This record gives sequence, structure tokens and C-alpha cells, in this order.
Amino acid sequence: MLEYTLQGNSFERRFQENLMAKYIEESELLRIGEYTKLLKKQNEIFESEYSRLPRAYLETHGCQQNENDTERIRGMLFEAGYDFTDDPAKSDLVVFNTCAVRENAEDKVFGRIGILKHIKERRPHMMIALCGCMVQQKHIAERIQKVHEHIDLIFGPQALYRMPELLYNAYKSRKAVVDIEDSVGAIAEDIPVLRDAAHKAWVSVMYGCNNFCTYCIVPYVRGRERSRRPEKIIEEIKELAKDGVSEITLLGQNVNSYGLDLDEEKDFADLIRRVNEVDGIKRIRFMTSHPKDFGDRLIDAMAESEKVCPQLHLPLQSGSDRVLADMNRKYTSAEYLKKLEKAKKRIPNLALSTDIIVGFPTERQEDFEDTLEMLKKAEYDSIFSFIYSRREGTPAAKLESVLSEEKIHENFNRMLEVQNEISLRKNKAYVGKVVTVLIDGISKTDDKMLTGRTDTAKIVNFPGSAELAGSYRKVRITDARTWSLYGELV
Ligand code: 5AD
Ligand code: SF4
Repeated sequence: MLEYTLQGNSFERRFQENLMAKYIEESELLRIGEYTKLLKKQNEIFESEYSRLPRAYLETHGCQQNENDTERIRGMLFEAGYDFTDDPAKSDLVVFNTCAVRENAEDKVFGRIGILKHIKERRPHMMIALCGCMVQQKHIAERIQKVHEHIDLIFGPQALYRMPELLYNAYKSRKAVVDIEDSVGAIAEDIPVLRDAAHKAWVSVMYGCNNFCTYCIVPYVRGRERSRRPEKIIEEIKELAKDGVSEITLLGQNVNSYGLDLDEEKDFADLIRRVNEVDGIKRIRFMTSHPKDFGDRLIDAMAESEKVCPQLHLPLQSGSDRVLADMNRKYTSAEYLKKLEKAKKRIPNLALSTDIIVGFPTERQEDFEDTLEMLKKAEYDSIFSFIYSRREGTPAAKLESVLSEEKIHENFNRMLEVQNEISLRKNKAYVGKVVTVLIDGISKTDDKMLTGRTDTAKIVNFPGSAELAGSYRKVRITDARTWSLYGELV
């Protein structure tokens, strides 16, 4: 079995500190607000000179948490007097919100940074900021500073709320500003948010992760778990509902630990029951659940709260108990399946999804076969599958892979084949049924089609006109593919 230590004493110490320093003081937020005003003044001068506001281009890599963080960045920039563009070549400020979970996400950002260099040669005044998990890693921040001199500002997820100050300092100083301080990561409430969709919204309920799965960089870059106060979450959701949002997705790296660090005894099950009471909200989703903490209380709350969608994302990672132990996942495949069966029994029509890593260093061929078996037993509607990516600083990074790269790729493709068949079979069961779809808008691939989702998160495409976006409509399913359903309005 793989040996590692769970961050030893320093983890304990920092966890204690975290419990004490949980919220950013109001005075600190007011101080940051002063920088927003300074930026605004600067942008007004820009406008009087160029007859337009400075334009910001934002790009998000990675998970929903990052999407949500970008919405905050956009909110802060909007308050500071920026306009927005979807063309980096026309922008005055570029912000890349980066991801560190796998190496290919980082490679992509490095590629994009290279392109920006050429754009900046033509637009020397352009300010470039990198934020998010990738740049929170010291070796990456150092590499960027050394090799990419055109980057003006680097800050990690924990410094997000300080962006106006950091950005202002970057304008004023002549060298790059860097803030990847590994702080205790207190929560900053009431940061302005400018969201992507009018009818759906992400709502973060907690930040960070304490699980230290041995392959994962997240706990190192996003810090320890810290929960937002329930009142603050409910307040935000009520505001959203007032603005016409009807579907919300509660976000956290491990929502099942929600509330463990709060002084009142409230857990995630209590929270979703409260969210269920908010007028105007019609659908509640959440992610991600950790199987070790997923249990009866949450299953009951899901089953008894009519707005909670019959949908569960429960990352398995591997079907082999030996590999699960090496991953520090703290459950066995049998325990996992038992919980899954309970949830399926209690919640009719439950749609399931999971995350799987193929090629974890200690994975042997028989371990991979165990994973395939689990896919067949669990019958997920869809899976998110990843080839293991070595992350510097994680315990697993020290290990050599048992399987060859070629074999890992072969296994990966085999797994997709097995899953695609299951996904298609499960989707075909929808044909002939009438489902309620929350319409997102015009399909990206066919402008005569609308696209939306069922409560079970199935994508449904059907003919219709754009003004239906944001409404709930009944659709009869006429055809099913591996990834989506097709139908017609009834
Ligand atoms: N390599 C591959 N996949 C990873 N994930 C997390 N870390 C790694 C890694 N080092 C996957 C896990 C997780 C999902 C968000 O990303 O499956 O659940
Ligand atoms: Fe990473 Fe594990 Fe935390 Fe998920 S639970 S963010 S995989 S450490």
C-alpha cells in the first residue's frame, strides 16, 4: 500500500487557525472597495481619452468553481468601470482563470499565454492577469515570471477578493505583481457577481478541500475547507430568485462536509432543505459529493425536497479497493455501491454520474477490470473520465506507473466504449416519454434548434424559437443518442 502522511502537524495547525480566521473583516473589504474606486477613476480618464471604456477579456479554464470565480471577477471589473469583449485582440485587460487539476489544462494555458505575447506586442498597454489554481503553485508562478515577462499580474484563488487592489498596483508598478500567498483562506462575502446565464446560477457553499486524495492538487491550491454561513447562502439565492433565476447549483469541492467548520450544527442536508423553501427556485442541483461522507441524511433530504433534482454526481475514481486505498479515498467499492443502491431506491428516476481516473500509478490491469465491472453495476448515465496526470507536490507524484502509457490509453478507450453503450441504453429509455425541460437557448451546433436540460440533467434538443429561453416546457422525446436526447415541444 502507498505510504503518505496527511500533511502532519502543519495540517492540524492550519486547520485550527482556519476555524478562527474565517471571514474577511468588513474593514478589509471597504479598503479593497477604495481600490475599485481608484480603478474606476482611472477608467473614466481612459474613456475621456479614447471615447470608450477599457475592455476586459475573461477566459475560464477548469471546473464550475472557476466559472463561479470568473463571474465574481467580472462583477468586480464591472464595478471598476470595465466593459467586456470576447476578442482578446480587442481587449485592454486579459484575465485567464486557470486550472491545475491535470497537466493538459496547464499546457493549454501556456499555449494561450504564448498567443497573448504576440497580441501584446501590438497592444503594449494591454494588461495581462493570470489567476486561479495553476498559478497558485509556486513552481508555476516562478516559471511564468521567468519565461513570460509580458504577464503583469499573478494571483491565486485565495486572493480573488483582492483583485481590485492587485490590479491597481499592477497598473502603478512597473514590474509584475504576484500574490500567491498561502493564506488561511478566509471567506469574502458580498463580492459583486456578474453571471453568465439569466435563469441558472452557480452558488458556492464552501471553498477548499481537506481530503488530500493522493493524486489531487486541489487541497494545496484551494486551501482548507471553509463553509459559508447558511444565512448568507440563502440571502444570495433569494436575490437570485428575485432576478428571475430558477435553477441553482450549489458548489463545493466536497459538499458533504458543508458545515463541519461552522459553530452551529448544520450540515448540507439541512442547507438543501432550507434552499428548497426559497420561493421562485424550481430546481436545485449540487456538486460534488464525496462518497465517504455521502449518507442517509442527504439521501432523505434529496428525496423529501421536491425541488432537488433526481441527479447525483458521486465520483468513484476507481473500482479497485486497493487503488482506492492508495488514492486515500476512504471507501471500498462495496460501500460505495451500497450507498448508491440506497439512493437509487429512495429517489425515483435518479440519474447518476461519476468521475473515473484511468492509469493511477499503482493501477494494475486487474484493478482496471474492477473499474469496468463497477461501471456495469452502477449503470451511470454519464461519466467524466480522465487519464491520470502527475501533479507535482502530491504523494502519488513520487510513484512510477505499473502500466505502460500505451496500455493506459487502450484501457481508457475500452472504458469509453463500455460506458457509451450504457449511456445510450439509458437515454433510449427516454424515447416516447414527455419530459420537462428548462430551455437554455439556441443550440450551439444548429441555430434552428433549442437546447435545454431535464431535471435529470439530460441535454434535450428540439425545434423552437429563441424567446423560449429560460422557460420550462414539456418535450416529447423522439430520439436518443449517447450524449443527448432529441424531441419536440408538446
Ligand atoms: N489526474 C487525473 N484526474 C484527476 N482528477 C483530479 N486530480 C487528477 C489527476 N491528478 C479528476 C478526479 C476528480 C476530477 C475533478 O478530476 O476524477 O474527481
Ligand atoms: Fe481533490 Fe479528493 Fe478534494 Fe476532490 S475530494 S478536490 S479529488 S482532494
